[in-house]
Formats: sequence, C-alpha cells, structure tokens
Amino acid sequence: MADFDTIIIGAGPGGYVAAIRAAQLGQKVACVEGRETLGGTCLNVGCIPSKAMLHATHMLHETHENFEKMGLMGAHPTVDWARMQAYKDDVVQGNTKGIEFLFKKNKITWIKGWATIPAPGQVKVGAETHTARNIVIATGSEASSLPGVEVDEETVVTSTGALTLKSVPKSLVVIGAGVIGLEMGSVYARLGTKVTVVEYLDAITPGMDAEVAKTFQRILTKQGLTFVLGAAVQSVTKARKGATVSYKLKKTDAEATLEAEIVLVATGRKPYTTGLGLEALGVEMGPRGTIKTDAHWQTSIPGLYAIGDAIAGPMLAHKAEDEGMAVAEVLSGKHGHVNYGVIPGVIYTTPEVANVGLTEEQLKAEGRAYKVGKFPFMGNARAKAVFQAEGFVKLIADAATDRILGCHIIGPAAGDLIHEVCVAMEFGASAQDLAMTCHAHPTWSEAVREAALACGDGAIHA
Ligand code: NAI
Repeated sequence: MADFDTIIIGAGPGGYVAAIRAAQLGQKVACVEGRETLGGTCLNVGCIPSKAMLHATHMLHETHENFEKMGLMGAHPTVDWARMQAYKDDVVQGNTKGIEFLFKKNKITWIKGWATIPAPGQVKVGAETHTARNIVIATGSEASSLPGVEVDEETVVTSTGALTLKSVPKSLVVIGAGVIGLEMGSVYARLGTKVTVVEYLDAITPGMDAEVAKTFQRILTKQGLTFVLGAAVQSVTKARKGATVSYKLKKTDAEATLEAEIVLVATGRKPYTTGLGLEALGVEMGPRGTIKTDAHWQTSIPGLYAIGDAIAGPMLAHKAEDEGMAVAEVLSGKHGHVNYGVIPGVIYTTPEVANVGLTEEQLKAEGRAYKVGKFPFMGNARAKAVFQAEGFVKLIADAATDRILGCHIIGPAAGDLIHEVCVAMEFGASAQDLAMTCHAHPTWSEAVREAALACGDGAIHA
C-alpha cells in the first residue's frame, strides 16, 4: 500500500491545481514544495507581484497623464518605494495563504522540502522517502542564462531581482523584448527610470501578430521606452555602480555599449528539473531541457507524469493549471483534456495585449485562406472615455467556413476581452456567431463584436 495516491512535486499553478483537483476527485494527495510559501514562481516572484507593481505604477501614470484632463487637479502623488513594495508583498502573502487554506480544506499534505525521485513510485524529501501510486512533476522553470552575463540579482537581475530592487533606478537596460522585459520595463518607465530595451530580433514580442507588435512598440516608445532592435548582447560588465551592456548590431556588425544602474536579463526561461534524479531514472527528455510526455502527460516511466513549464508548450501559468486539472482527472480514471489550440497569451502593460489561436503570419506560412475583421478602439465610445482609444481588435476567420481561427487585441482590458473569443473558439463558433451575439453598450467588448462584424458585412462604427 503506497503512502499516497498521488505525490505532486512543486506547488506552482500547475502543481497546486493538480493537487486540489486530485483531492476533489477522492485521491489521497501530497504536494512537495521547498519554498516557504505555496504558489511557485508565478505567485511568489512572477505573475502576481508584477501585476501589483503594474497596477500601482499605472495609477501613478494616470495621475500624471490624465487626471487634469478630467478636472482632477492638485499635487501629483510621489512614490514611497518601501510602501509600494509592502503593498506588493501583501498581495503575494494574501494569495499564498489562500492556497494554504485550500490545501487544508482539501486535506492535501504539504511535504516541505526539495524532492528527488530515487525510484519509480518514490519521492525522497530530506531523510524521508514517501511512496505513491503516481508522481507528477510540476517543478516549473527558471530564467535562462545568457553567455557573458552573470546575474547577481542586485545589479544584474532576472525578473525575481527586478521585483525587489532597493530603490527606483535612474536607468535600466532590459535584455529581451519579450513578456517579462516589457512588463517590468513598463513598471520602471512609469516610475521615471530611463528604460532601454535591447532585443535580438528585429521586432518586439516575437511570435506575436506583426501588426500588434508594431503598434505596441509605437505606444511603448511614446511612454518613454527606447528600443534597440536587431542587437545581440555580447556581455555585461559590472562597474562600481551599475553595469555596461555590450551588444553587436546584427545588420552592420557595429558594436556599441549602454550603461545603466540596473540590467534586467529577460531572454526566456528554461525547465527547472535539476536535482530530481531524472537522468538516473532514465526519463526520456525532449528539446531544450523539457521532459518528454505522451498525450496524457505520462513520461517514459510508467506512473511518472509531468506538466507545466517542465514540459513542451508555452510557459504560461494557465497552461500549467489546465494540465494540472487534466492530469489529476486522468489519474482519477477520467478523461482529462487540454485544447492547446486555445491558450490565450496576455501582456499586462497599458494597453494590454492579448492573443489566442493563429496569427496571419502562421496562416500565410501554411497557405491557408483566411479573412480578417479589424476594429480600432478609436470607434469605441468607452475606450475613448478612459483615454485608451489606441489599439484594435483583429479577428481572423476561415475564408470559406467563417470559423474563428484567432484573435489579436491591443487595447483596454485586452486580457479579459480575449476570453469571449476563447469560448467561441472552444465551441467552434463562426465570426458571424460572435457578430450576432448582443454585446452591452458601452463596453470595450463591443470592439470584439465589431471586429466580428468586420469579418462579414462590415463594422458599424468604423
Ligand atoms: P520571452 O521568450 O517572452 O522573450 C525573450 C526575448 O529575449 C525574445 O524576444 C528574444 O528574442 C530575446 N533575446 C534572447 N536572447 C537575446 C540576446 N542575447 N540579446 C537580446 N535579446 C535576446 O521570455 P521572457 O520575457 O524572459 O519570459 C519568459 C517566460 O515567462 C515566457 O515564456 C513568458 O511567456 C512567461 N511570462 C509570461 C507572462 C505573462 O503571461 N504575462 C509574464 C512574464 C513571463
């Protein structure tokens, strides 16, 4: 008799959700977590604290940019960095405590410490070995390193260090114009930091709809961020105060340097699986350090499963959550399922950027016939009222069947708006289905409907 039905390693969004669902389905569950608090990278040093910082600095930005336009006069607030950090820490703590409560409620055993897997069905934490019918690896990811760049989390930081700087820096160089770089770059730009983003490719946010990326870059530039594109960072040298970033422009081979008080390395993340003993177990690995799994998240070892950032696919908390729920269902004899074609992506800047499904670039590469319905927020009364009329909704549908294939939004609350398209896609809806659905006025969601109308006979307000 094993000690547990399932032991999950890691209490991030993948692991803790898997634990809760497995417990709800009647399993005896343990979750191993070495951090002092539950919630993993996302909750402790990622998604949640960064959203608190984005919110606080957005409010500050609003007071400077838009308050007087609305007749709200008076002195602008100044930043008390310690209190802003305390607010962010409170938000994190409230949420980690929430998961602890859910663990208790669902009778999940939290085994505190770092796990290894000495043999199939066994999880060792400290001196103790626990047995389980099934084991789920949900150990997440870590920032990938860059050759020639040594991170000390004080001057040269990853997203973790960027959330706990001692003070607001005067200057910041961000390496990588991906999600982390642009979210954290926005935070500091709004706090008055001179932010320069150095990106290897010729556009920001690679993989994103090209039109959205272009608009996004223009808006961020207006907000004070400077971009150096097509530049490969060669090295970062620390000085007595700050650091020097050396890069080479790909087109001309010209070399240049940038100096900054803080350097943020945001060039992607890699699966975090070191120390688990996977090699000794002979677990088959996939590309870029991922653990290889089958369609039911089982690794090459029977009874050993893996989900989230540790396996293939986008490194997103909600993708891990979906896999967590699904694997728990599979392990309870049910039919867990994840639709990888409908996983939204969101960047929580202002404006927000969100996408789901295929881009025009992907469809062109596949040679598929499609149509595009686009609607600018300039035609949306609600967006204009709150000074967020820049950006647009772009809905893509199959040219022949009108089935929705993708959606790309840059604009107010894009991260929420995208979900009506996700639901529509899950149900195999056509653009016309969305266009025929009554949308309340005045809402930002009307822009999504208008984009759907634009796929057919035309938008009303454009
Ligand atoms: P990313 O993959 O989004 O972007 C990394 C960027 O760095 C790319 O644009 C790449 O071209 C560039 N780059 C790579 N090497 C370079 C070099 N030597 N010089 C200059 N540029 C270079 O990775 P990021 O932003 O670090 O995020 C890591 C993961 O965390 C991503 O998978 C992301 O989806 C996830 N994440 C998601 C968030 C969200 O959903 N809002 C928030 C934060 C992170």
